[in-house]
Amino acid sequence: MPYSDNLTTERPTFVSHLECSATGEHYPADQIHNLSRAGKPLLVRYDLAGVQKALSKDALLSRAPDLWRYRELLPVRRVADIVSLGEAMTPLVALPKLAAKLGGGEILVKDEGRLPTGSFKARGLVMAVSMAKAFGIKHMAMPTNGNAGAALAAYASHCGIRTTIFCPEDTPEVNVSEIGLQGAAVYRVNGLIDDCGKIVADGKAKAGWFDVSTLKEPYRIEGKKTMGLELAEQLGWTVPDIIFYPTGGGTGLIGMWKAFAELEAIGFIGKKRPRMVAVQATGCAPMVRAYEEGVEHAKRWDDAQTIAAGIRVPQAIGDFLILRAVRESNGFAIAVSDAAITAALDEAAREEGFLMCPEGAATYAAYKQGLADGRVKKSERAVLFNCATGLKYPLPPITKTLDRHQPIDFAAL
Ligand SMILES: Cc1ncc(COP(=O)(O)O)c(C=O)c1O
Repeated sequence: MPYSDNLTTERPTFVSHLECSATGEHYPADQIHNLSRAGKPLLVRYDLAGVQKALSKDALLSRAPDLWRYRELLPVRRVADIVSLGEAMTPLVALPKLAAKLGGGEILVKDEGRLPTGSFKARGLVMAVSMAKAFGIKHMAMPTNGNAGAALAAYASHCGIRTTIFCPEDTPEVNVSEIGLQGAAVYRVNGLIDDCGKIVADGKAKAGWFDVSTLKEPYRIEGKKTMGLELAEQLGWTVPDIIFYPTGGGTGLIGMWKAFAELEAIGFIGKKRPRMVAVQATGCAPMVRAYEEGVEHAKRWDDAQTIAAGIRVPQAIGDFLILRAVRESNGFAIAVSDAAITAALDEAAREEGFLMCPEGAATYAAYKQGLADGRVKKSERAVLFNCATGLKYPLPPITKTLDRHQPIDFAAL
């Protein structure tokens, strides 16, 4: 198959309308949207009966292994609007040594660090930027903890859209640098991501930019949804028993939940759903608190702190959607300490040679905690999301040196 078939072949598309995730109110497709009139995220709806007629599992087999193979379930109408940097399907990597050590469950890691800009943010942003291109949007802005900004900058620069990006002042250096290097105007702000989000919202009218904050436009979810599509296809059109998702704004968790519903509607999978586990850090766990209190919306988490920058999100606009998916799936929300995250990262790197990002390591720490407290069973096939390459984060220094001019004591090495 030609490497680019998904990027060059026109395929039928099936978006019928958009729908308010809170009220169900309908909005027309093919128009620029942010939030619904109720101030809630909009979800993209498809003519799924039409998709079912147009798409078969066999047809997928002959398509290139990238995110665009699912075009019939994606919003981009014309190939000319696809802005691609090579969104390869990400592998599922087994961690058999860790699984054996913990007593025999199956641990698979979906390694999202292989995507452009080194994180799963590429999935959401490639879709949002492609749709922005289709709509003729010229300037986009967002608040970011780092990875989303990097993906936005990359895709927008690739197709000539201007970007302005605001990060918390302590965002990892590599993220701020890559955002700037990839053509965005990037600012460090003395606040957290929601403070940055306020600047984006306040500047909309004056600066004229399009607000592409998490869930404030409808298409990032559609991109993130492909994690669920890929996962089901990679598991032979089945779903795992349990998914651990490092949850900040929650786009991926909400997107995968939507993906499974759409796959069932088109007859690709059955009724079984994975238990969805929202993983947060003890220093910023608004979803865990809301889950435990049994409420529908999560209060802002004050003084949010964690080494896992991507999940340091004090308040999420899609809180009720995250909590709904967690509860409907019979999953749970769980917080892990920074010490547990660091230990998990170290353990996976040393024992399996798998270098996770801190947010990914949080999912492994949560898996272990869940096994220990009985919320996870060894009989369950678990999928953890490593959502960015571990190479993006500061690594411990190596201090040992060797003087090649002196005799080497090989026995002591
Ligand atoms: C590496 C990493 N993991 C997890 C998240 C959280 O993703 P979501 O907003 O979909 O909950 C982020 C977001 O910045 C991230 O960069």
